[in-house]
Amino acid sequence: MAFPTLFSPLQLGSIELPNRIVHVPTDISSSHADGEVSERDIHHHGDIARGGTGFIIVGATTPDMKTGRPTVTCLVADGDNYVPGLARLAESMHRYGAKCAVQLQHPGRQCAIPRYNTLGATDRVLKLPWSAGHEIIYENADEKGKEIREASIAEILELVDLFSEAAWRVKQAGFDAVELHAAHGYLLSEFMSPYLNMRTDRFGGSFENRMRFPLAVIDSIKKKCGRNYPILVRYSFEEWCPGGRDMEEGLETARVLERAGVAALDLSQGMQESPGAGFDPMQYPQGWATYAAEATKKIVKIPVITSHSLRDPEYCEQILAEGKTDLVGLARQLLADPYWPVKAKYGKVRSIRKCISCLGGCWQESLMAKHEIQCSINAACGNPAYADMQRTTRPVKVAVVGGGPAGMEAARIASERGHLVTLYEKAGELGGAMLYVCMVPGKEKMRWYLDWIRDQLLDLNVDIRLNHAPTVDELRGFDLVLNATGARSYVPEVVGDTSTVVPFEEAMACPKVACECHPGGRKMHKLGARVLLWGDHYAATDTAAWLADIGKQVTIVTENREFAAETEVIHLYVLRKRFEQGDAEVLSSRPYKHPVNVITSTTVAEIREGSVVLQGQDFGRTELEVDDVVTCHVRPELGLFEELRAAGVHVLNVGDSVRPRNLYHAVREGSAFGLAVDEHLLFNPNGAILDDLPMDVLAQLTREEGPAYTTKRMMELIGATG
Ligand SMILES: Cc1cc2nc3c(=O)[nH]c(=O)nc-3n(C[C@H](O)[C@H](O)[C@H](O)COP(=O)(O)O)c2cc1C
Ligand code: SF4
Repeated sequence: MAFPTLFSPLQLGSIELPNRIVHVPTDISSSHADGEVSERDIHHHGDIARGGTGFIIVGATTPDMKTGRPTVTCLVADGDNYVPGLARLAESMHRYGAKCAVQLQHPGRQCAIPRYNTLGATDRVLKLPWSAGHEIIYENADEKGKEIREASIAEILELVDLFSEAAWRVKQAGFDAVELHAAHGYLLSEFMSPYLNMRTDRFGGSFENRMRFPLAVIDSIKKKCGRNYPILVRYSFEEWCPGGRDMEEGLETARVLERAGVAALDLSQGMQESPGAGFDPMQYPQGWATYAAEATKKIVKIPVITSHSLRDPEYCEQILAEGKTDLVGLARQLLADPYWPVKAKYGKVRSIRKCISCLGGCWQESLMAKHEIQCSINAACGNPAYADMQRTTRPVKVAVVGGGPAGMEAARIASERGHLVTLYEKAGELGGAMLYVCMVPGKEKMRWYLDWIRDQLLDLNVDIRLNHAPTVDELRGFDLVLNATGARSYVPEVVGDTSTVVPFEEAMACPKVACECHPGGRKMHKLGARVLLWGDHYAATDTAAWLADIGKQVTIVTENREFAAETEVIHLYVLRKRFEQGDAEVLSSRPYKHPVNVITSTTVAEIREGSVVLQGQDFGRTELEVDDVVTCHVRPELGLFEELRAAGVHVLNVGDSVRPRNLYHAVREGSAFGLAVDEHLLFNPNGAILDDLPMDVLAQLTREEGPAYTTKRMMELIGATG
């Protein structure tokens, strides 16, 4: 059998897990506004169980909604009325053979709700822009920070009860275990942390005092749920903050929790103050946190779960077989592909859609935007519509123009559904804007998705035409055309000679002008030592990272108040550290030769030979000496789309050719097109495909109309005489 250790059972307290794959808690923020289990919760967790994960720990569920919800639509377990919904949730996973648990989490200072009178271990003003509980900042408003007040002893004691009552409800609902969230700076973690806990009473100071609150909760749960009901604890093995928990205290914590009767340890890393380690962006390599489980296993007998950036079944098998961990924990990987376990079991490893750690869907578009769960590369994540995807009985001929992520995803889904797809790409390789990021240090994981979708298109026998930009006449023969032509850089109006301005597409000074990604070759521009990047699209962050890494002295000028405001926050956090010649926690990249200088609320007013004139918001002007100016301003490529519309061809537009954005939007719009293409090809007056019309309306729109009703005609039909 492939991966024998991965698919071997394990005893965890009183329960036997069918295999070693654990869904580590992920708050999918998809419950009803009152915290009741939703159909989306059921669908999502059922999908993960169907995919073969052996043990599913449902994400953050609050024991007290009144004083803390980590996200605006997290689950709630603070009343008996939540038990029936939780029972349906447990059943949705048991049905597919999985064991399941609920993670109880009081967010404390990091709560999204309530916004005021927020409880924490310690009084403080909090500014954590990458947290779902961050103070809401309206457009252009200044950040003032969120005020946190120290919980009183009475409140701590009440919370001990509330935690254990919630655990009892979890047990009543049929879950096999309960987990306490004591990681990432949330309430229990804040009490346990030597870095965050500033209390001087018996809940602060020494290690023993800091452990008092979580140990009281464990004790109380044991009293309510029985000594055999398994309790897991998730804590940050190291906090990666100055004076925070280090490896020594991480191990001591494991010893104390085992002694307290905990059934398993779910080892996480970092806090909201060290978000790189907590929610590892792309730069973090696979298995960087395995060392913690390896060290912990040497001192405890209870099972240990390791997680963080685990993506390959081969790697998971290896660390299990070598005895470095008992269980492997996957969070984002199961958002990107809930069928990871069953694909591994059947040896279909190449068809696993590996999570690229972009955080664009799950963090940015879900938790930060206060929306239900999303994934940048899996439009089906949290969206039951894809589960009902149907194969067509009457295929239509579809032309997709543009082989970037939107076009490729549209081609993939439409083709899976049986439509006849031709995919045109004017370059020599599929990938579109993704091809430019292959050289950006730390962004190599983007290639995983690119390779995956290209393989899928080949397996599906999509008719791919590279190095070909089709004309309107060629496209007339198709039933439907999808324009996915993307965006291109341009130079805004400015005084001076703009012919010297370099498009960002030509600034990536790759030594290989022609390579696997660009077999047809591409135009490259050799840049001088001092480079001014002008503009603020995603291209600007990537181009800056690349140029600074090869030793250029980079200045970024943006008209915006804040640079890269649309970039995913944790990646921006890592990037800012790199701009200052440092690095995010755990990482140790070679520092840039020069810091990257970012000038906001400013534009380029004039381009001169060897310099530029910058103009700020107050109209003040300064001159800056530079060797090259690179434009990162981008706009949609709409030429073909407009020509097709004028020619009366059925055409729809998706991705960056609507408005330049990121991978999440491209994949989502491409997938939605693939899902909607319908044999009837009807469009509403807004230009949207109609694929879900009520049967009678569909018939009214498609069948031949007879003569209009008149009494005379009806009489004729029934043969009556007047
Ligand atoms: C959208 C999202 C929600 C998360 N929710 C939780 C949670 O509820 N509880 C928790 O302990 N960790 C949570 N995490 C952290 C993950 O469990 C995991 O530790 C982290 O994403 C790194 O592991 P991965 O690379 O397998 O995703 C969340 C992470 C993400 C991206
Ligand atoms: S959005 Fe990105 S990080 Fe999140 S699950 Fe999807 S691929 Fe992974």
